[in-house]
Amino acid sequence: MKSYLSHLECTETGETYSADEPHTLSPGAQKVLYPRYDLETAKREIDRNAIDHRPPNMWRFFEVMPVRDESNVVTMGEGGTPMLRARRLEAAHDARTLYIKDEGLNPTGSFKARGLSAAVSRAKELGLTRLVVPSAGNAAGALASYCAKAGMECHVFMPKDAPDANKRETEMAGAHLTLVDGLISDAGAMSRKVAAELGLFDVSTLREPYRVEGKKTMGYEIAQDLGWRLPDVIVYPTGGGTGIVGMWKAFNEMEELGWIGPERPKMIVVQAEGCAPIVRAFERGERHAEPWENATTIAAGIRVPSAVGDYLILDAVRESGGTAITVSDAEIVESMKEIASLEGIWPAPEGAATLTGYLKLRESGVIGAEEETVLMNTGTGYKYMDLV
Ligand SMILES: Cc1ncc(COP(=O)(O)O)c(C=O)c1O
Repeated sequence: MKSYLSHLECTETGETYSADEPHTLSPGAQKVLYPRYDLETAKREIDRNAIDHRPPNMWRFFEVMPVRDESNVVTMGEGGTPMLRARRLEAAHDARTLYIKDEGLNPTGSFKARGLSAAVSRAKELGLTRLVVPSAGNAAGALASYCAKAGMECHVFMPKDAPDANKRETEMAGAHLTLVDGLISDAGAMSRKVAAELGLFDVSTLREPYRVEGKKTMGYEIAQDLGWRLPDVIVYPTGGGTGIVGMWKAFNEMEELGWIGPERPKMIVVQAEGCAPIVRAFERGERHAEPWENATTIAAGIRVPSAVGDYLILDAVRESGGTAITVSDAEIVESMKEIASLEGIWPAPEGAATLTGYLKLRESGVIGAEEETVLMNTGTGYKYMDLV
């Protein structure tokens, strides 16, 4: 198979850069770089129906993935997660069609596997062998595991109160783990310093251009599962926002490929009351989010006080006609129980937050009972034993 990867493009200025050397943020504007593909040629050459016959993991979308040589793909079968019809939740809440996309079934138990499989594969292709990441938890476990599989050196900086499972999986996979007395933003500052000192390549989300390509495959899968159309609403627990902007990117690519039409789902950002910089910026009508002070929530993955791709998240939510909403920790725990007891899925607290967000928006009439909605359960609850 052939990737149609052509170049990198600055999401702010449109300046272009070669995709065949390592990059982080755009050298000029210091903004997020997106990989771009020759979609015009791809449109003529790819038959979307051929994808149905490929192995059910995210690399089935190889033509729009950023790896040129298939032998560089570092995979553990990530992606291809089920979109489960949540019929008992529908009945409980008078909803016509509700799905849970269960990302907890990914290797390392979260959707971070998608992004890190893409990033480690591309790093391998570009000859990078020593990687570093700051992480709220799940990205650390995923990077450590994909580096183990690839035989690469891995360094991780994680808040010291990150979930225990994330610390243990990171160490078990042989990574160098540094616990930081602070939040992911403090871990980020420290990892960038150490990266410069030791010559490590920083794969922080959206500072590195390829993790988003792994996460965008959630968008391709949702469309494929629905017979190449999109739902009315997608609810996403938002930290750095890579998944939500990735799906948005996927929708635009699919339209250019002629695989879907111009319709888009309302994209809904859910954040915790104790850390809601994107919700605040959305409500204020701003395009950049001020860092959140004293961030706190049990949903560790969305305890992200500032996001480098804030403008991409806010643009996607606004263009889609979506919204942004907060939920409390107590409500998150209630939703964990409800999803587990009605649907049999023990969700990560971040994933459970999407149900609370959905129910609140139903109550306020922003989402209608008839609107087909996908809740993104971004990880498994098994990693959060200490919460229940
Ligand atoms: C389970 C889980 N959900 C959601 C998120 C937030 O993801 P994103 O950075 O794409 O907003 C994370 C990030 O750590 C996570 O681990």
